Amino acid sequence: FITNPPMKYNLIIADDDADFGHKAKTAFYDALNGINRPKVILPTGNTPAPFYKDLRESGDCPSFTYIALDEYTGLMEDDKRLFKKWLAQEILDPLEIKVRWTFNSAANPACEIEKMRALFFKNGHADVAILGIGENGHVGFNEPGSPFNESVRHVRLTEETRKANMAYWGEQYGVMPTHALTLGIADLIESKKTILLARGAAKAEILQRALHGEITTDVPASYLQRQENVTIVADRAAAQLLPH
Ligand code: PGA
Repeated sequence: FITNPPMKYNLIIADDDADFGHKAKTAFYDALNGINRPKVILPTGNTPAPFYKDLRESGDCPSFTYIALDEYTGLMEDDKRLFKKWLAQEILDPLEIKVRWTFNSAANPACEIEKMRALFFKNGHADVAILGIGENGHVGFNEPGSPFNESVRHVRLTEETRKANMAYWGEQYGVMPTHALTLGIADLIESKKTILLARGAAKAEILQRALHGEITTDVPASYLQRQENVTIVADRAAAQLLPH
């Protein structure tokens, strides 16, 4: 009978936040090496913060096109809760990354989907996808059950994800958005290289399941088992259940 061969990935383990930032940056530079005008998907969240800090403080100025992974919809374009605002502040403005493929939160989502698909069609997909993983295995806003063959789309957020993201909003911001635009797994599959970032013990179990469990839409990140060129950058707590 046929079994899947064990997944091959490059595992980089970090000792602390500073080491995580440094190792993630090194993995990023390795991935960019030799690519002309690279297109890069970048994640938001707590996980990449040390990576962005290291990049900002390095004094380097890597050049790339930024591709948004996901964005809330229904917010005004000057709303500081937008992922693109957060990323601009954290990394895109400091590095002077000018070319940004982003979603307009206030526009018609169907038009935004078409816009992003057209950009991929004309220019090709990402060279490097840097991703986080949710405790339920989501990547971007591809929640459990998201088909692997779907491209950019408008999704309703799960209660779990809304609660997890509530922490970033603070009481004064009122209610969380209910919907978002996200690149689909089909778009992420097209990325030539993937760097998955994970920090903290809360990610240990899902990381193990995603990389070594069944390949299933119940664990969206399990699509990575079929990808080439996957690097995992994890701290010791997140990597504790991985063979190494
Ligand atoms: P986190 O989010 O970095 O805040 O843990 C990751 C994710 O849910 O994709």
